[in-house]
Amino acid sequence: MFKKFENVYGIDLGTSNTVIYQRGKGIVLDEPSVVAMNQNSGELLAVGAEAQAMIGRAPAHVELTYPLRNGVIANFDMTSRMLQHFIRKVQGRKSLLRGSQVYISVPCGITNVQKRAVEETIVHKGARKAIAVEEPLAAALGAGLPIEEPAGYLVLDIGGGTCQVAVLSLGGIVASHTVPRAGMSIDRDIMDYVKRQYNLEIGERTAEHIKKTIGTANAAAASKTLEIRGRDLVQGLPRQIKLTSGEIYKVVEEFLGILVEAIRATLERCPPELAGDVVENGIMLCGGGALLEGLAERIRTETGVPVHTAEQPLACTALGTGLMLSERETRRLHISGAGRASAAQEGSVEEKAAL
Ligand SMILES: Nc1ncnc2c1ncn2[C@@H]1O[C@H](COP(=O)(O)OP(=O)(O)OP(=O)(O)O)[C@@H](O)[C@H]1O
Ligand SMILES: [Mg+2]
Repeated sequence: MFKKFENVYGIDLGTSNTVIYQRGKGIVLDEPSVVAMNQNSGELLAVGAEAQAMIGRAPAHVELTYPLRNGVIANFDMTSRMLQHFIRKVQGRKSLLRGSQVYISVPCGITNVQKRAVEETIVHKGARKAIAVEEPLAAALGAGLPIEEPAGYLVLDIGGGTCQVAVLSLGGIVASHTVPRAGMSIDRDIMDYVKRQYNLEIGERTAEHIKKTIGTANAAAASKTLEIRGRDLVQGLPRQIKLTSGEIYKVVEEFLGILVEAIRATLERCPPELAGDVVENGIMLCGGGALLEGLAERIRTETGVPVHTAEQPLACTALGTGLMLSERETRRLHISGAGRASAAQEGSVEEKAAL
């Protein structure tokens, strides 16, 4: 059970963005998962949006790190410091997470050791209890799908570091597939393309801007253009070029093929009744990658299954993790993590068994 006045947080600790939901308040923080550190002194210079603004513009002694890679924590110390900063921002100086319950999303398919490590990072920050929730389950809940019903629903979460496909039924994940490529790898592909085609070096923020502005999954709509600046690799001087959405369409083609293949592989592995349900209920697109122009239509054409896009693709995982506590019993949701309680609570964790 939870205490009525206890703080409950849902945290989507994503490769690209960290989103925090607080019960009773809604989304209270939404910032890039980036940390800027002074390499010489070890001092934390900036976190989140402030650190992101430094990418590609920082002097040599400033190290910019994404502490998560492909959805899992790659640098524990940095993740911990980043979370501490974000929580302070939300809660004010003193309280940190003391006495609160935290539901935190993790990619599906990670090991129990990795789940436990994420939970312990949160408990270490003072939480009474931390529970890892598989991301597609949280995203589906946040997107409003009735996943507790005995019917199959397919969620496709396209984040910054991972794409996760999961078929859900009766409040749990029946089949899933995780691809370690997503938005950030599209950005890298765009950087490579511009380098190869134009001998021009561009930064990752420019590449992301190109993707968001003229990127498309629809060949017929590929008629936009965008002027961008980079550094000429031969002369070493700044140069401007005009890119078309047709070119970016070709760059994302391979990635789209991987996505469709992941959907096919997941459907192949789930019982035929559920695959039949998915054909009727459709695919729910979540995560920032769902905002790529023409993506829903493209997946519909390739799979023959109706496709819906979540109302808030970038926030639905955090919303879902936040809803987990109030909904998990009434809706019989199956949470993946064993749950970690703080040392003070270790003797009274009968809830753990129920999770
Ligand atoms: N309009 C858009 N078109 C295409 N991609 C977009 C758009 N808006 C955001 N994105 C991409 O969405 C990605 C971030 O999505 P999201 O915040 O869901 O990822 P994440 O949860 O941090 O990552 P992960 O779930 O992989 O750990 C980024 O790569 C970003 O470039
Ligand atoms: Mg995500």
